[in-house]
Amino acid sequence: MKIGIDQISFHTTQYFVDMAELAQARHEDPNKYLIGIGQKKMAVIPPTQDSVTLAANAAAKILTPENRQQIDTIIFASESGIDQSKSGAVYLQSLLDLPRQVRAFEVKQACYSATAALQLARGYIALHPDKKVLITASDIARYGIGNAGEPTQGGGAVAMIISKDPRILAIEEDSTVLTENIMDFWRPNYATEAKVDGHYSGHMYVDFFNEVFDAYRAQSGMTLTNFDALAFHLPYTKMGLKALRSILPQTDELTQQRLSANFEDSRQYNQIVGNLYTGSLYLSLLSLLENTKTLTAGDRIGLFSYGSGAVSEFYSGILQADFKQALIPTQHQKMFAARQQVTIPTYEKIFNQQLPVDGSTVELDLSQDPAQYVLAGITADQRQYRKQY
Ligand code: HMG
Repeated sequence: MKIGIDQISFHTTQYFVDMAELAQARHEDPNKYLIGIGQKKMAVIPPTQDSVTLAANAAAKILTPENRQQIDTIIFASESGIDQSKSGAVYLQSLLDLPRQVRAFEVKQACYSATAALQLARGYIALHPDKKVLITASDIARYGIGNAGEPTQGGGAVAMIISKDPRILAIEEDSTVLTENIMDFWRPNYATEAKVDGHYSGHMYVDFFNEVFDAYRAQSGMTLTNFDALAFHLPYTKMGLKALRSILPQTDELTQQRLSANFEDSRQYNQIVGNLYTGSLYLSLLSLLENTKTLTAGDRIGLFSYGSGAVSEFYSGILQADFKQALIPTQHQKMFAARQQVTIPTYEKIFNQQLPVDGSTVELDLSQDPAQYVLAGITADQRQYRKQY
């Protein structure tokens, strides 16, 4: 039975900063951010959006009267959860008006958790082929103003529906995984910004990639020539390029050219959004599929997932006959085109508008947020979500 991604969508906020402007404000050469980091724009997240609303806004784009009746599991993948006990998935069930006959839960392992959710969903569908699973991968990447990690911030959510006979990507039974307890990036419960050993994290990313890919080659007998494209977790797009370059010498020139050209398509969306942690690999896959002029049904895509701490996985998927028809590029392009650039002082002000953590009541100004689902405030320690239209 074929199982995999039947639908996929993305949502980010209405604001971004221009990376050349950010570089100037930080007294850096703009090319450090544009070329060295590989980012053009960075999403800025207003207080009216959190991991739940971002996920709801992404999922709303792919829900239909038909799939609503088939979804019996919602998995909320995030490291920006809003509660230590209650899962974001329970909020999604009510916000999205999904049937009450669903299991709803949250998974976490840094940027890896959406892949964990996808593999769990795949196993679940194998046992329950008549069901569908909704996965949301939703995060806000925060390092701090003036910090080395600042140009690698961002945020947004990817939503996916996993089913049998998927229209987009059938997942192969071939993954290789690796877990090792390292301290490259983490966020203690009391911190709103990530702690990171930046250069070490980049080295570990490439080392983990090489190890899971070597294991994959040994296990499957496949080499780079078997792949039409590779999609990477992209905390910033130069990171994926470094990983790609580390293995290209293994193959012939034609394969090198094909994988390099497809990498450019796979980073277009990530370059104008930034890191969305666990959704980043799937935003890159979406970017590849919505921007490609060369990939066709039957092509094999390799996917590398890396979540600091660290867990990584390499697996592949086969593009399905109707993949172009199942995508919604116009909706994504419209959303990107409607975004507004904010100045660096405005971004800093928004960044510092943290919600109170002392139980006090807050009412947020919703007049500037065009999203369907928003956070209206906090009353009695309870987040107040609203559907605006
Ligand atoms: P930095 O130390 O300020 O930057 O921070 P740098 O000095 O390393 O320079 C960056 C690149 O720009 C270098 O290229 C420079 O040569 C180049 P590289 O050597 O890396 O190829 N450069 C220039 N290029 C062109 N023109 C110029 C110029 N100047 C310099 N004029 C760092 C960079 C990424 C370390 C920092 O932003 C950071 O700490 N980011 C956060 C950590 C991160 O994203 N790590 C990625 C791997 S871990 C991961 O992916 C997991 C994660 O998503 C979290 C999760 O799992 O939840 C983070």
